Amino acid sequence: MGQGSKFKDQLVHDLHDSKHHTADANARFLANQLELSGHSHKAEVLHPGVSRKDTTVTVTSKPLVMEVLHNAAALYSVAGYNARAKHCFGEIYLGLDAGPEYDRQANKINAAIGAVTAEDSFNLVLALTRQALAKNGGAVADALGTVLTEVCHTWFDIPDGKHIMPGGVRLDVTAPPRCPGDYNFPSALIFYPDPAGVMSQLGAGQGQLLRAGADALVKEVCASGELPKGPLSRAVFEAFPDDDELIARSLLGIMMGMIPTTLINVGNCLKMWSGNDNAGFKELAVALMKHGGAASYDRAKAVLFKPMTQTIQGTPEPPAVWRTALKDHELGGIQVAAGDKIIVSILGACHEDLADDAVTLDPVFGGDRSENDHPLHACPGSAAAVGFMLGFINAVVEPT
Ligand code: HEM
Repeated sequence: MGQGSKFKDQLVHDLHDSKHHTADANARFLANQLELSGHSHKAEVLHPGVSRKDTTVTVTSKPLVMEVLHNAAALYSVAGYNARAKHCFGEIYLGLDAGPEYDRQANKINAAIGAVTAEDSFNLVLALTRQALAKNGGAVADALGTVLTEVCHTWFDIPDGKHIMPGGVRLDVTAPPRCPGDYNFPSALIFYPDPAGVMSQLGAGQGQLLRAGADALVKEVCASGELPKGPLSRAVFEAFPDDDELIARSLLGIMMGMIPTTLINVGNCLKMWSGNDNAGFKELAVALMKHGGAASYDRAKAVLFKPMTQTIQGTPEPPAVWRTALKDHELGGIQVAAGDKIIVSILGACHEDLADDAVTLDPVFGGDRSENDHPLHACPGSAAAVGFMLGFINAVVEPT
């Protein structure tokens, strides 16, 4: 992950320490002072949880974050994602607002992704990680790259070793494209509210390489007359039998949703628990032993889900998503104008959950798709991702 991770770490840091957060903290501090001096009503005008700088509005409180994500009054658009995606691998359904075109592109595929259960994903990743660790002498970070590559291949038939090669994050844009590495900068280009220039250049370049690779792969599969083996690539080919271009874009978009998020959230857990001579891992090993039984999804969920969730809540990836306001309106007490950029601080919502002892990954996944009125774009891969992360961590703690 190297440099990509550094950029993302920096972004997490910037967001965490941003003026918006400082403004929020100041508001709370000031409110407290006013309360002490008997002027608590003044705090009303300080709008904690939302702030503005020029044409950018940042929401950091959980209720406002969820309000923007739910978008019940259709006030916010995700079209900005596609304006960026155009420059790398082409438009994707995450960049479409509610409507028939979103339904056509998203519904069948999201259903296929949602059909991957946490338990299936856990079992696959537990076995692959144990194999990788046995082969590489226990090098955990390397195992993460290996396992992510193998899971991508199992679910999407990518990398195929011909049009898209296996490989990690890199700082150049030379063919052939690589999976999982080349998805990270396109993801930063699209998702980050303000990606740094070098990130955008690498994102555009590596995204275009991936697109060329995916186009060639799709052409070859279609010419063969056979459907691909992976359950998720198969679902995409079946959904759009006459549209090779849409197959290629959809495959890349879904994989971009999965790769950097999983890699970085697991990576952050590894960083956290390996410190102080693996103190965190040792604690988890004892907890698993006390629980008893052999590795299974239910056991991992009972023992590992809470510490994993709390670690992710501390430094979630993505730390923020963003929208564009469609209409003038009021949000959390401040005036928003059509065209304003709305930064939705997942980090802020997670820190509020942490402080409230709420053990939930809902903000990290952009909402809970199992709820009836979930946000339109809430992650369809949350179960698959939780299974992956628990499986990997369980294998590291219990490698055999
Ligand atoms: C820890 C891992 C993951 C995290 C934190 C995560 C997070 C997210 C978030 C926050 C969104 C919504 C973005 C927004 O509203 O702006 C999203 C959407 C999406 N994710 Fe995930 N994701 C993860 C894993 C996955 C996996 C494993 C898959 C597929 C196998 C996936 C596929 C998608 C897709 C296709 C969307 C777009 C859904 C739509 O627009 O209808 N994600 N994800």
